[in-house]
Amino acid sequence: MEIASFSPGRGSTGPRAWLRTDAPAQVFDGRWRFRVWPGLRHAASDPTDADDDGWSDIEVPGHWNLQGHGRPSYTNVRMPFPLDPPHPPDENPIGDYRLDFVPDAAVLAHRRRLLRFDGIESAAEVCLNGVLLGTTRGSRLTHEFDVSDALRDGENRLAVRVAQFSDASYLEDQDMWWLPGIFRSVTLLARPDGGIDDIFCVADYDAATGQGHLDIRVTSTRRAQVLIPALRVDAVAAGRVAVGKVTPWSAEEPFLYDAEVRTTCESVRLRLGFRRVEVCDTVLHLNGRPLMLRGVNRHEHRPEHGRVFDRTVARDELVLMKRHNINAVRTSHYPPHPEVIELADELGLYLIDECDLETHGFASVAWRNNPSDDPRWREAFLDRIRRTVHRDKNHASVLFWSLGNEAGTGLNLEAMARWVKEFDPSRLVHYEGDRSSRYVDVYSRMYASHDEVRQIGEETLRPAPHDATAAELHRRTLPFIQCEFAHAMGNGPGGVAEYWDLFERYSRIAGGFVWEWIEHGIAVTGDDGRRRILYGGDFGEQVHDGNFVIDGLVSVDREPRPGLLHYAAVIAPVQLAVGPRRDEVEVVNRYDFLDLSHLVVRWRRTVDGKDVASSVIDVKAHPRTSTTVALPETAREPHRFDVADVLTVEAALSADTEWAVAGHIVSSGQDVRTAVPARPVATGAATADTAGPARFDAITGDLIELAGLPVDGLKVGIWRAPVDNDRFRGSDEWDRPSYADRWHEAGYDRMQLRLIAREVTDQAVILRLRAAPPIFDEAIDTVLRWTPVEEGTVVLDASFEPRGTWSVEWARLGLDLTIDAVPLGVDIAGRGPMPSMPDNDAAARFGWWRLDAHELIVDHVRPQENGARLEVRQATIRTSAGAVRLSTLDRPFALTTAPWGRQAIASARHHFELESDGRTHISIDLLQAGVGTATCGPGVLPRYRIPAQAASISLLIGRG
Ligand code: GAL
Repeated sequence: MEIASFSPGRGSTGPRAWLRTDAPAQVFDGRWRFRVWPGLRHAASDPTDADDDGWSDIEVPGHWNLQGHGRPSYTNVRMPFPLDPPHPPDENPIGDYRLDFVPDAAVLAHRRRLLRFDGIESAAEVCLNGVLLGTTRGSRLTHEFDVSDALRDGENRLAVRVAQFSDASYLEDQDMWWLPGIFRSVTLLARPDGGIDDIFCVADYDAATGQGHLDIRVTSTRRAQVLIPALRVDAVAAGRVAVGKVTPWSAEEPFLYDAEVRTTCESVRLRLGFRRVEVCDTVLHLNGRPLMLRGVNRHEHRPEHGRVFDRTVARDELVLMKRHNINAVRTSHYPPHPEVIELADELGLYLIDECDLETHGFASVAWRNNPSDDPRWREAFLDRIRRTVHRDKNHASVLFWSLGNEAGTGLNLEAMARWVKEFDPSRLVHYEGDRSSRYVDVYSRMYASHDEVRQIGEETLRPAPHDATAAELHRRTLPFIQCEFAHAMGNGPGGVAEYWDLFERYSRIAGGFVWEWIEHGIAVTGDDGRRRILYGGDFGEQVHDGNFVIDGLVSVDREPRPGLLHYAAVIAPVQLAVGPRRDEVEVVNRYDFLDLSHLVVRWRRTVDGKDVASSVIDVKAHPRTSTTVALPETAREPHRFDVADVLTVEAALSADTEWAVAGHIVSSGQDVRTAVPARPVATGAATADTAGPARFDAITGDLIELAGLPVDGLKVGIWRAPVDNDRFRGSDEWDRPSYADRWHEAGYDRMQLRLIAREVTDQAVILRLRAAPPIFDEAIDTVLRWTPVEEGTVVLDASFEPRGTWSVEWARLGLDLTIDAVPLGVDIAGRGPMPSMPDNDAAARFGWWRLDAHELIVDHVRPQENGARLEVRQATIRTSAGAVRLSTLDRPFALTTAPWGRQAIASARHHFELESDGRTHISIDLLQAGVGTATCGPGVLPRYRIPAQAASISLLIGRG
């Protein structure tokens, strides 16, 4: 087997569209026989030998290292073996697959037959009945072999030898698990004589006239007819034909026409969407209108099955995107299963369909010998893009062809771009690595900072400098997208709203794609029988990139992380802002095509948790316009309230769609008015060790009981269990240690408390404390004044005054307390229901939320700070020993409640390592820092950092 060459695979028939046909087919998914060798030199010389020794059953499609043969391994940029192209390492598992089958009579009835492989990682050699059919390269690309002669009537033996690593691995260094095997379907296809071998159909829409045109080319030896019943089209399928007025396709209205292309021998079904994508004067247009891409990067991943496709899961996943206002997917970094493209057509998602290509490993040697610029690899590059484009060329959802990801620059990429433009001028070419944008149609970047995005947005508003190069001049004609931004790793990403403001502000900017949609954890069963989610390094890999593979908006099981909920609010296609006098709502229609007639907009007024008025308001607004709608008197008539008077406006679907039912909320806005209770009168009942429901240790002054509950506290906290973004240096502070390191160096994770003085008057117990990190001389002078008030409650006035020079910003400023009982839940009047961080909070609405214990925490695969609810004004913390109630008497606070402490979180490597310590850990934070997106991109924006500062809060505390 040849696995060290510069060439593409050999022996397959030319690439063509993946078509839905009535020609007979036989799918070979199921149990195959399998054996694995530690390297090519060990492998039996005859992969098809009859001996059954050493063979066992395996599931196809599947990855062998997720089926008990070897272990998965994860690297991001770095190659797991020496850069010695085109040679793979000697230690290179080789899998032999074998299938004995009898072809269906329906297939045998045709003289021509093809054997199709939709995905084999990384290189295969295919034999049928001892005849070598050829080899494959391009793991996520389709390969077909002509088996007309090799196929027998009766017993056949198909043998496929697969190498885990090959020359192809140098071109497939995507940031993901190395998962070898036949992981997509294998199908035997009958090819009728006079049948339809290929179709290339461009369904164009002219927005000026409303007319559709079909440009259809059919590969067949017979004359083909195209039928589109809804358009009364029945024409010879050859070249461009006008089809009259059509309803255009867009993600907002994914209107598809059922079409049939047929000869006398075969019929192919197509679903056509008429649309035109183009660049008009730096602006990305679809169907004659500016287009905004609200995107995510999507890898194919399932925790137990890797990149093996499951239609139900994939459909649910795209539906989930639609429900979160996402309208675009970059298929990072390879073509997904072909049915994903069909689903995107049907559900309405714009695609950047990306070629299976990444040579990022060469970045480790400053791109020396990068295959992208080495003519020996040229055919391999061209083969990959041809296979990508041909397979998916008939789909409305594909707006861009992407040459690949992070493959540096070079002649081979240019050659790919030239081929694409020649073959399919109806779509745009994307490639982020071409910073000069010479051979692409869109200027694309990843993780550019806010400031740079602003500059790029403004660039085209000014004349080009007189000394601009030709490449610069060309780039200035292009729209801009961020093909990756907002790295959704762990608790984050922060700063997305600020990006989106820029995207909306500059017409040149056509949106962006969050990195990334899903976390790629691998599920295994632990010794305790429980399911565990693992990441890089957990399988004993020598070279790996840890939890960098856990960076999604949804968990491995596709449960939304808070980041997805906030992203959905940021990108919501309708923005609803209640006017300051509550007399009107400003409605911004950010749809590109829809007026708002598909939505019902309703406002609701909630006073101290009770709904007091509501009604529907009539809103009409053309796409990309805004309007103001009056609110009735009941929205603002005076009402007495103790905590909050909240006006919420929600826009919901008025009818069911393919992806959500009527009533699904697309967007919401709020006006929140708050009040604080009057300060209760002191009862004058303080003693040396009690202040109403607060009891103190007679010697240390520590709080030991609160509202009848055994507690430990209060401590002053300025540290958090680092989130992933704290553990990396942001692009804005590349030369400084990460915040996690800075905090640790500064001792914030080991703060000590010294009691300076305890004063007791009959009114209050006053504790003067100094909170300070070890080693240094900064301190926070803290005063806790406990004043017992009526009915078993106590007022706590806490004030903080920093002393000395604090050179590192704080993660937060708050009071920490543990209750010696298990948390059962929390009821808040505050922003929720989901957790937020100050720079990642767009979806959090003020409400009276009841949260159960499991909702208090987010099960980030690698544990980190999480679970904060912001702007809380009242909270009841429920524990197994009873409840405690807190209300603010001035500023709101952020509340975090967890069954474990921060040190435990910070030292655990996996969520499953965390065990409840039987206590309820509570933080009442006056200040909290944002999280930013430093894992890739800029760190926390300055406005979300917390320099040392004085602060105070007054709380009313009692039994809940
Ligand atoms: C980008 C890359 C992605 C992913 C991301 C980090 O550079 O294109 O594939 O690696 O960084 O998670």
